[in-house]
Amino acid sequence: MSIDADKIIALDKKHVWHHLTQHKAFENADPIVFVEGKGMRVTDIKGKEYLDAVSGGVWTVNVGYGRKEIVDAVSEQMMKLCYFAGSFGNIPTALFSEKLIEKMPGLSRVYISNSGSEANEKAFKIVRQISALKYDGKKSKILYRARDYHGTTITTLSACGQEERRMQYGPFTPGFIEFPAANPYRNPYGMDPSDPALGQKFADELEKVIMAEGPDTVGGVIVEPITAGGGVLEPPQDYLKIVSALCKKHNILLILDEVVCGLGRTGAWFGYQHYGIVPDMVTMAKGVASGYAAISCTVTTEAVFNDFIAAPSDREAYFRDISTFGGCTSGPAAALANIKIIEDEKLIDNVNAMGAYLMDGLRGLMKKYDFIGDVRGKGLFCGLELVKDRTTKVPADEATCNQVAGHCMKNGVIIGKTSRSFKEYNNTICLSPALISTKKEIDEIVTALDNAFAEVKI
Ligand SMILES: Cc1ncc(COP(=O)(O)O)c(C=O)c1O
Repeated sequence: MSIDADKIIALDKKHVWHHLTQHKAFENADPIVFVEGKGMRVTDIKGKEYLDAVSGGVWTVNVGYGRKEIVDAVSEQMMKLCYFAGSFGNIPTALFSEKLIEKMPGLSRVYISNSGSEANEKAFKIVRQISALKYDGKKSKILYRARDYHGTTITTLSACGQEERRMQYGPFTPGFIEFPAANPYRNPYGMDPSDPALGQKFADELEKVIMAEGPDTVGGVIVEPITAGGGVLEPPQDYLKIVSALCKKHNILLILDEVVCGLGRTGAWFGYQHYGIVPDMVTMAKGVASGYAAISCTVTTEAVFNDFIAAPSDREAYFRDISTFGGCTSGPAAALANIKIIEDEKLIDNVNAMGAYLMDGLRGLMKKYDFIGDVRGKGLFCGLELVKDRTTKVPADEATCNQVAGHCMKNGVIIGKTSRSFKEYNNTICLSPALISTKKEIDEIVTALDNAFAEVKI
């Protein structure tokens, strides 16, 4: 079928409402319409090819485009049985759950839905229902961290540490309380960002909030292992261990949002596994099936699951939640094939090797450009924070990041950036190339950034 590019663009402009987009801009410009992808490269409808350094724009297509193994697994499964409601079992869900749990020692139950937001909503509902079942409804508060993001629904925005994402969407769901970010580069104590004592300092901030709210009223704490859209913030090494111990001490469920970090992105199967903890719940979405099907998971320990075991005649004590499309078998079929690729191609080893190579390249750029204030990340998940002055750390304007991203895009490399999340700190360039990256692609990304930085005016 030949494609009439002008027609498709006209139809897009007339009928499609793009995500996170001010459409006024399309009065004088065309939207980019992507047509195909192979490996780490995508092509738009006008025939221009791009190297994708952000895995589908939002850290999702982790194993790259055009994976026949996943397409075949989905197609075969869909011919056999495309769907049945999740109150019943199906074969790919059983097989995928076993495989996933094999990667998550200490956890044992997989609840499937469709998006990261939904997976986090399930975790919040589990906290609220356990509060009702065991604590007379008193342990219902959920604490979230500044700069973290957990989704786009009103309740996940109620747990959002990014003020510009929340703006205009209130009133919010009650019972969600913010605690301070774990941001070594901008720590408020004047300490060196690499000071190991920072882990305890940041965790103390959480304990202060728990004590102020009353531990008997707090049922859950949610954090990203490494904050993604909030600026790729990696906590000090012992931070999560201290947070986990605090949660245990106060009988609070710890939820790790692995929507971005999960399935290999950081050089381990899950981000939390770098820090020697086992959370009570883990949520995941984007990389679960690398975007080949919509699937998210809320994974829990057997102890959490057991809180919902009661006599079948009990009308309240089971998890009274449903997700229509959580019953689509394409999700687990794609996810199983996705994990097989990560295993067979030893992609986690590759993430560690290529992540180190990327970090070297970025550190080289930092030596060259003094407006790069910080380079950080883990695995193939990196951020460069741009500043007006390295000593004062005054953040660069959002427009600077836009300029850098625009320059790269024009030259055929798609990079990411913090975008309208904060009033002040939309100053981080984000990179999350696919787990299949080779030195060739990493070099291209670093060169594109170098060329862009040479042109930007801070
Ligand atoms: C850490 C994190 N959690 C949750 C979400 C929400 O996922 P979704 O957009 O699939 O609802 C996102 C999306 O970017 C995310 O980055």
